[in-house]
Amino acid sequence: MLRSHTCGELRIADVQKKVVLSGWVQRSRDLGGMTFIDLRDRYGITQLAFNMETNTDLCLEARKMGREYVIQINGEVVERQSKNKNMPTGEVEVVVSELSVLNASKTPPFTIEENTDGGEELRMEYRYLDLRRSVVKNNLLLRNKVSLETRKYMDSQGFMDVETPVLIKSTPEGARDFVVPSRMNDGQFYALPQSPQTFKQLLMVSGIDRYYQIVKCFRDEDLRADRQPEFTQIDCEMSFVEQEDVLQTFEGMIKHLFASILNVSFTDEFPRITYSDAMNLYGSDKPDIRFGMKFVDISDEAKGKGFGIFDNSEAILSINVSEAASFTRKQLDKLIDWVKRPQIGAKGMIYLKYNEDGTFKSSVDKFYNSDDLKKWADKAEMQKGDLLLVLSGEKQQTQKQLSELRLHVADERGLRNPKEFKPIWVVDFPLLEWDEDNDRWHAMHHPFTSPKKEDESLLESDPGKVRANAYDLAVNGVELGGGSIRIHNRGLQEKMFDLLGFSKEEAKDQFGFLMNAFEYGAPPHGGIAFGLDRLVATMGGSESIRDYIPFPKNNSGRDVMIEAPSFLAEEQLDELGLKIKN
Ligand code: AMO
Repeated sequence: MLRSHTCGELRIADVQKKVVLSGWVQRSRDLGGMTFIDLRDRYGITQLAFNMETNTDLCLEARKMGREYVIQINGEVVERQSKNKNMPTGEVEVVVSELSVLNASKTPPFTIEENTDGGEELRMEYRYLDLRRSVVKNNLLLRNKVSLETRKYMDSQGFMDVETPVLIKSTPEGARDFVVPSRMNDGQFYALPQSPQTFKQLLMVSGIDRYYQIVKCFRDEDLRADRQPEFTQIDCEMSFVEQEDVLQTFEGMIKHLFASILNVSFTDEFPRITYSDAMNLYGSDKPDIRFGMKFVDISDEAKGKGFGIFDNSEAILSINVSEAASFTRKQLDKLIDWVKRPQIGAKGMIYLKYNEDGTFKSSVDKFYNSDDLKKWADKAEMQKGDLLLVLSGEKQQTQKQLSELRLHVADERGLRNPKEFKPIWVVDFPLLEWDEDNDRWHAMHHPFTSPKKEDESLLESDPGKVRANAYDLAVNGVELGGGSIRIHNRGLQEKMFDLLGFSKEEAKDQFGFLMNAFEYGAPPHGGIAFGLDRLVATMGGSESIRDYIPFPKNNSGRDVMIEAPSFLAEEQLDELGLKIKN
């Protein structure tokens, strides 16, 4: 070994020990008589001391060590005169007797310290240097702990880790596929899995009974803070289970992860909410329940008083922001501008203040007297000092806009503490959603999700009313996972494809293998998949998953370090039988 200790290891008890350390020069300081170097490795930083008087040559040599040089030193541990309480090794330093350079370094393009001067793009280009920074490294350590504890838990529950192929045929999960041309099969393409969905179901037909895999998935969709084109799922499937069994098993997994890694224990069962209540109360199927501000529908109270905008609205929805009646005109105007931004798309916002002196002030005083406004206030359970914010219009759109406003106001009022964790199961999703653009039904989860037994009779008469055995887990407003109890017989699966507009041939062509398998003793089964990147980011208190992925893509789906995607050489295209149109 090129070292006796790591740079994070030495303590006061090690004083007088002779040690060998290897690491990177984080920085050096020249104080005339002394030169100090902060030596860094994965485990921490140790201060090295070089004395000009007692060892002049070595001290002069030390002064030549630039940032990020890889060096090895021999020396003795001594107690430091000025101790640094903020560093685990801060009570000691190593007085160096020998120094050798293992490798020199060019000056790095940004400083490799907690608060770096490097912008995002530059840090991504040199991601291997960015990963030397303790903040980024700690994110990877957290990720490692989460996968390790996941494996421990899954193993303890009898789940078997089984790998599934990456070159497959498209599985519809709602996004576009990434495709790979096949050289040996002219004109044909593989698709990269959007998830191992059909394979894990086939494994249930194989009798594997409890499957899991920490697995890469690929989706060609527009990117956001919580979306990457390649991401990782904790993918799971179980046989002979009902919805309740899946929820219990994976509530157990989440509780285990939070307790073992963050020391956060959830003593109560996770709350559950139906999809329909989630939409009516939060306008979102992944509600952030760290704070209140549930939606209050004031349509009955606000309609019929001659205010045209409300009278012509399908829904008039409000949130009660407590202790915010003191908002100034300027603050309210800012909120109005905020909801009118194209990303939110509201036409405007009405407010009602319940002043401390018991009077009401609204932006529509012309149409409503104080008795009318009192009715709104009572419905929304306003106290003196509260502020009601109201949006109206088409119901779904208004729910979506008010949901955004609710989160925005909560952000501004500091109600979204990233260190507080509030999980919630969302259940009873609709089986189907209507796709206006293409005039057809879409599977809300995926086409393999089973309808609730009691709703099966509605499949033909009123498909939109059919509820699915599907569930999501949201934590702090982030969808961490989702799954369902599956269809396991051919007849029902065929009916489902038919409803989704597949012809018999298309269904057979794309999913014949699965429907065939269902004819050879497929057990009842169901499962779930968690987004590992989102889980780790949420546990780390961040909304951006990119910081928790070792080598992420940027917003255009590019890896700027290796410069991918890239063009292929003419010969390679020829071999694949491909021609680029433009
Ligand atoms: P679903 O599509 O809901 O279900 O995906 C499961 C979880 O994966 C995460 N996720 C993503 N994370 C980062 N970037 C993305 N682009 C991305 N897309 C999804 C989310 C999500 O909750 N086969 C089903 C699961 C099942 O039915 O068992 C599936 O993939 O956290």
